[in-house]
Amino acid sequence: MVPTDSIVLVTRQLPKVAMLRLAAGCQPRIGVTTGTISRQDLLAGISDADGLICQLTDQIDEEVIAAGSRLRVIANVAVGFNNIDLAAATRRGIQVTNTPDVLTDATADLTFALILAVTRRVVEADGFLRAGRFDGWDFDMLLGTGLSGKVLGIVGYGRIGRAVARRAVGFGLDICYCNREDIAFRDEPGRVSIPTARPDVLHSFTQSSQLGGLASRHVGFYELVETSDILTIHTPLAATTHHLFDRELIRRMKPGAVLINTARGPVVDEAALVDALESGHLAGAGLDVYEQEPVVHSGLLSRQDVVLLPHIGSATREARTAMAQLAVENVLDLLAGRPVRSPVNLK
Ligand code: DGY
Repeated sequence: MVPTDSIVLVTRQLPKVAMLRLAAGCQPRIGVTTGTISRQDLLAGISDADGLICQLTDQIDEEVIAAGSRLRVIANVAVGFNNIDLAAATRRGIQVTNTPDVLTDATADLTFALILAVTRRVVEADGFLRAGRFDGWDFDMLLGTGLSGKVLGIVGYGRIGRAVARRAVGFGLDICYCNREDIAFRDEPGRVSIPTARPDVLHSFTQSSQLGGLASRHVGFYELVETSDILTIHTPLAATTHHLFDRELIRRMKPGAVLINTARGPVVDEAALVDALESGHLAGAGLDVYEQEPVVHSGLLSRQDVVLLPHIGSATREARTAMAQLAVENVLDLLAGRPVRSPVNLK
């Protein structure tokens, strides 16, 4: 049982079904109904709270954590948790949780929306028509690039990366991936999980029988970068992945490749990306996340070969409701002394 006087600060109001469930178990305190709670209100609201349900826009740093003298659980309503000082929370014995799984399909779908939008110039074509420039069918009007037979490189093969791979099968893409270890140890060849790329190392999907036995290929990090026609990023933001796609790495990408990012903005050096697009080295980019959200590099805003979305990877009603519900269950579980469903622990 959750002690009924437990206070849970919910920085931003959640869908009704989740709020009702929370209110049945404890005393929710809502920060704001829309938008982001101010720093001042966050510090005040957390001071006597037992639990915190927060958004990725809330910076839960050492100061905030220290202000929560009774705090026992921090439940992020996101799968990413780079907004939380995990080490500071862990030092104080505070459990951090996130919301994996429930947003996997939504994010993988949006990744594909970006891949298609960039390669088939969907946004540009829509603008072309609305501007009154469609004056009849023309043989080579707005030609794009086909996906079938192209190499899709998946950077980070966790839940979302694998869900992207499952979708890629239907588009006839040649699917390659590298995992978290390959990225972390990319400059230490002796420590990568596969020392050299081995085309014979085939990893069938769980559903391979339904998918006609198609497989993805596990390759080394740099091989992935250098050979992919479309590179899609699905790695968390951490010290090892901040500016992973820096000027040098972008330079190593295949000429004419497309970069897709639905993970976290700071994984890519935006200025370097703009330069690579400007020089024609890259053919396009599809971005849902940015280095300094909500600010977007001006060099991106003016480009037709770039599709820009306002961080909506998990923005379906289904996913957002499920994320809120999972965060609430995590808090109620922790406060009732049960194991939480999706803990985030220091490695
Ligand atoms: C996440 O969950 O980390 C996404 O960026 C937002 O849903």
